[in-house]
Amino acid sequence: MSDVATSKLFQPITIGDLELQHRVVMAPVMRFRANSQHEMGPLNQEYYNQRAGCCSGTFIIAEATMIAPQAGGYKNAPGIWTDRQIASWKEIVDGVHARGSFIFLQLWDLGAAAEPSILLAEEDYPWVGAGKYPYVGAGDLLFPEHTEPPRPLSVDEIHEHTWLFANAARNAVEQAGFDGVEIHACNGYLLDQFLQTNTNNRTDEYGGSVENRIRFPLEVVDAVVAAVGAKKTAIRISPWSRFQAGMCMKNPKPTFSALVERLRDTHPDLAYLHIVEPGVHGTIAHHPRPGESNQFIREIWGERRLIAAGGFTRKSGMAAAEHTGELIAYGRAFIENPDLVRRFKKDLPLNLGDPSTYYGTGRAGYTDYPFAPAEPRPALPSHHAIWCSLWKMLKHSKTEPPLPSSAMRGAPMVRAH
Ligand SMILES: Cc1cc2nc3c(=O)[nH]c(=O)nc-3n(C[C@H](O)[C@H](O)[C@H](O)COP(=O)(O)O)c2cc1C
Repeated sequence: MSDVATSKLFQPITIGDLELQHRVVMAPVMRFRANSQHEMGPLNQEYYNQRAGCCSGTFIIAEATMIAPQAGGYKNAPGIWTDRQIASWKEIVDGVHARGSFIFLQLWDLGAAAEPSILLAEEDYPWVGAGKYPYVGAGDLLFPEHTEPPRPLSVDEIHEHTWLFANAARNAVEQAGFDGVEIHACNGYLLDQFLQTNTNNRTDEYGGSVENRIRFPLEVVDAVVAAVGAKKTAIRISPWSRFQAGMCMKNPKPTFSALVERLRDTHPDLAYLHIVEPGVHGTIAHHPRPGESNQFIREIWGERRLIAAGGFTRKSGMAAAEHTGELIAYGRAFIENPDLVRRFKKDLPLNLGDPSTYYGTGRAGYTDYPFAPAEPRPALPSHHAIWCSLWKMLKHSKTEPPLPSSAMRGAPMVRAH
C-alpha cells in the first residue's frame, strides 16, 4: 500500500460532531479583502469554495474576524457584528457546506495591536463609556509601532469584551451557520496580551500572577462555551511567537501550562486546542530557539483533539500526524494551492507563492492560483488500432459479421443480429 493509503494525515477523524475525511486543516489566514464595512462578498466566496471543494470533508478555519467595532482597528478585515456581515459570512458557510466541507470562524479582538486612527474612523464605534482614546490593551506598555501607550481596559470593559466574544460566537453559529468558533488567543492580540507579562502590567485580578493573567482568556472560553457549546468552541495559542515585536515572555511554560490544564479540566469536550509551533512568528518562519517546544502542552492535553500549525510540509505533516495522530494546519500552502489536499494526496508539486499578494489586492494571489492539472485518463485505442484488430479478426473468421460502430466509442461490444 502507498504511504497515502496508510498515512494518518489522510485518515478520517472527528472534531466535536464533525466527521472530517482527513487531517489537513486550512489554518486561519487573514487576507484583508473584506469591504470597508467589514463584509465579505462574492470574491471571498469563490476563494473559500475553491478550498472547500477540492476534497469534501476538509476542515477550514476562516480568517480572524473582528467581534465588534471596539475590538477592531484594521481596514478591510471581516467583522461579525452587523446583520450584513453575518449574511455575507452565511453565503460563504453555505458554499463550504454545499461542498461537503466544514468551517469554524476565528474570533478576534485586536486590543493594543489596533491602529488607533482606524478605530476612531469606525462609523459604529461606541463612544459611551469607552473613553476618548480607543486604543486599549491589557496594560499601558507601549505597543510596537505606536506612539502612545494603550489605555488598559477597565474591569467593566473586560466583562463587556467577554460578552462581545460570546455574542460573536452566537452570531457565527446560530445565524451564519458556522460549525463552530476558534477563539484567537495568539500572536500578540488582546487575549495573548493578557496572558503575557511583557504586555500585561496590571495590578488587579487580571494581572500579576499566572492565575490572574489566564483569567480573562478562561472567562472568554466559559462565555463562548455557554453560548454555543463546548463541541463548537476551540482556542488558538502561540506560546513561542514573537509576532508583534516584544511578545513571547521570558518563560511562557508556567502560564501556558496553567491555561491548558484549566481548559482540560473545565472543558474536556472542547472541539480542539490549536497550537502554533515555535518555528513561526505570526506570518513569518524562524528557527526556533533552543528549548522551545510545545511538548509540554501535548503532555497536558493528552489524547484530546489538537491541531498543530507552523512550518509544516507534506512530509513533516505526515510524520507528525503519524506520530501523534493530531491534525496539521497549513497557512501559506493553502493560500497558494486551492487544491492543497489533492496535491498532498497525489504528491504533486506545489505552486510558487507570492507573499506580496497575501494582503488586499483583489483576485491576484487570491483566487487565481492554478489547480493542478487533472490526471490524464487511460488512453483509448485509436481508430487505426481498432480497425487493425477488426481486420485481423475478420481475416481469421470469415463468418463473423462486422462490429457495430458503437464499438468505436468503447460501448459494450454486441453482435449484430
Ligand atoms: C497571510 C497570512 C495571514 C495570517 N492570518 C492569520 C489569522 O488571521 N489568524 C491567525 O491566527 N494566524 C494567521 N496567520 C498565521 C497562520 O495561521 C499560520 O500559523 C502561519 O502561516 C504558519 O503556518 P504555515 O507555515 O503553514 O504558513 C496568517 C499567516 C499568513 C501567512
